Amino acid sequence: MRKNIVAGNWKMNKTVAETEQLVADLKSKLQDVDNGARVIIAPSFVSLTTAVTAVKGSEIEVAAQNMHQEANGAYTGEVSAEMLKSAGVNTVIIGHSERREYFKESDELLASKVDAVLANGMEVIFCFGETLKDRKLDNQLLEVGSQIKKSLFHLPAEAWKNIVLAYEPVWAIGTGETATPEQAQEMHKFVRRIVSKKYTDELADDISILYGGSVKPNNAKEIFSKPDVDGGLIGGASLKADDFLAIVNGF
Ligand code: PGA
Repeated sequence: MRKNIVAGNWKMNKTVAETEQLVADLKSKLQDVDNGARVIIAPSFVSLTTAVTAVKGSEIEVAAQNMHQEANGAYTGEVSAEMLKSAGVNTVIIGHSERREYFKESDELLASKVDAVLANGMEVIFCFGETLKDRKLDNQLLEVGSQIKKSLFHLPAEAWKNIVLAYEPVWAIGTGETATPEQAQEMHKFVRRIVSKKYTDELADDISILYGGSVKPNNAKEIFSKPDVDGGLIGGASLKADDFLAIVNGF
């Protein structure tokens, strides 16, 4: 079943102590929210175990922002699926545009990361999106279609129950510029269509597709109201408990 989700991508922000504090704030503020949405936070690697302990007693879930595709070995500075699992993490964000851009993660590499997450029985939040250049050339559907095909279309149908998609137009991330609700809806509908063509209508209909890119308390409701938008992946606004709470209340 498709679920509404709000996921906070904390990026390279918050110390361990600050993580504890923010989770405590979120926990008390989210207590009274009961709209059925999943609430996920993705702190940095070093704060994951602290976050996992701190969310106990609440419905908040903890995700990682990235992961290495190999099971173990000589990969200095990297973290494996098994390590994340042992820390109590069940969801991993893969393919964020900052990983693609700054760390040169290719569609092929992302496919192997997706495989590694799924092979460990965990869930993927898979990010995709076009650059400003693509959008100006009206190439966004082609570009997004290609990213999804190259990193996800090798998966068997049953693997999709552990996939959440996140449309993140690069030009809207951290820029204060948001895709209009219509632009988000157009892309989400397109993605659902290509997934249904490759697999089935039922499978496509069951996938949660999040929108990410300058979602704020003042625009969340309008974006989430679109039929193919099932929530958001939130960067900047996830770092303040009140803003994040207001976004969760956008359903
Ligand atoms: P932003 O980031 O909300 O700060 O634009 C979104 C994201 O990168 O997930």
